[in-house]
Amino acid sequence: MLTSDDLLYARHIEDRRDQIEAALNELGYDALLIHSGRPKNRLFDDQAPPFRAHAPFVAIAPLPFAEDCLLEFQAGRRPRLWYCQPEDFWHLPPADPETWWAEHFRIEPVGSARDWEPRFRNRRALAAIGDPAALDGLGDDVAINPPELLHRLAEARTRKTAWERECLAAANRRAAAGHLAAADAFRRGASELEIQLDYLRAVGQDQDEQPYHGIVALNEHAAVLHYQKRSAAPPAEALSFLLDAGADHHGYASDITRTWTLPEHAEFGALVNALDGQQQRLCESMRPGANFADLHRQAHFAIAEVLHESGLIDMPPEDAVESGLSRYFLPHGLGHFLGAQVHDVNGLVAADGQALPPPEKDPFLRLSRDLEPGNVVTVEPGLYFIPMLLDRLRTSEHGRRVRWERVESLRRYGGIRIEDNVLVSEGDPVNLTRQAFAALE
Ligand code: GLY
Ligand code: MN
Ligand code: MN
Repeated sequence: MLTSDDLLYARHIEDRRDQIEAALNELGYDALLIHSGRPKNRLFDDQAPPFRAHAPFVAIAPLPFAEDCLLEFQAGRRPRLWYCQPEDFWHLPPADPETWWAEHFRIEPVGSARDWEPRFRNRRALAAIGDPAALDGLGDDVAINPPELLHRLAEARTRKTAWERECLAAANRRAAAGHLAAADAFRRGASELEIQLDYLRAVGQDQDEQPYHGIVALNEHAAVLHYQKRSAAPPAEALSFLLDAGADHHGYASDITRTWTLPEHAEFGALVNALDGQQQRLCESMRPGANFADLHRQAHFAIAEVLHESGLIDMPPEDAVESGLSRYFLPHGLGHFLGAQVHDVNGLVAADGQALPPPEKDPFLRLSRDLEPGNVVTVEPGLYFIPMLLDRLRTSEHGRRVRWERVESLRRYGGIRIEDNVLVSEGDPVNLTRQAFAALE
């Protein structure tokens, strides 16, 4: 039976196919190949990191873990999928194609890349996208990763189809269930590792399936922006908990952060609530025409307001932004595009391919475009007590505008980040993350 998801996928493929055919036509190619990727062993080792297919492939075929598959597009023909299903007793071969996606392709089962490679070797007017090392056998006449074509495919991905929106919403629903389970584990006094395991159990996905390495940070670990460890020992006292973790749905990512504390830590709890209010106001600003670099500046103003109103600094918010003081507390960007990659493509180029570098003082900002309907962005302001930056602030010209006794007492909580995934629409922004939590609560 045909479901509404099947119809969404059918339309998605139709749209992407039209976009690809138009690009091939304009750029003078007869055909396009998109490779899913090939596992690569670590140096001097026979072990490879967990495999994930390249995003340009996943954004068309919902097969985020399919190795050595090849999509073939040619004007006027149903796309072909060279589907790699090796006979193997060392590994589990990929399952047979499922009708809902397979009916949109001419499926060619193959045992390895050697089966498709000779058919395309040295074919003229052929473009191929993938790791050049894996496509080496195609010969010198095939255009590997031509920038103009890459740009067009990436540009199409900045405006999500209805299918992609549904995948992103589903990835949010999965992750939200994990976040609630993780918060319970924190309240029980669990270690970072135990929290991670509870998270994965609630999401129903192994770490290898996750879109990124989840950040599970207790206490001062929350001040490490990409804290990568997971301590197996619970801390003597758990004061605060920052979880930045997502989930996968057909190759699409959610990217959600929540920060929790316990009722007896009222001062830090008030800061979390203040930042949460500001974050929701920022989410409301994700509207067509708004420039994301301007929104990033607005986020600095929001943080400066929280710092000022909670008495941590005695500088008016405008001045705290202008002087750079707010950067000591928020040293990362407001957000980024989200999709088949967590940090999705084309955030720093305009639709016509012109570079849109981030503001000089915010080199870490990953998105500087004007927003358009169909964009999905993360909105993730943070406020941290990072020892290295606080040391610099103390000796800077702004050091005397900080109430250090308050800041010192908050250091042990690490920091706060609140991150939602928001769809920009013609009407009000759609907060996929808040919707997912609301459905569970
Ligand atoms: N999880 C990484 C980020 O928020 O961008
Ligand atoms: Mn995140
Ligand atoms: Mn993010």
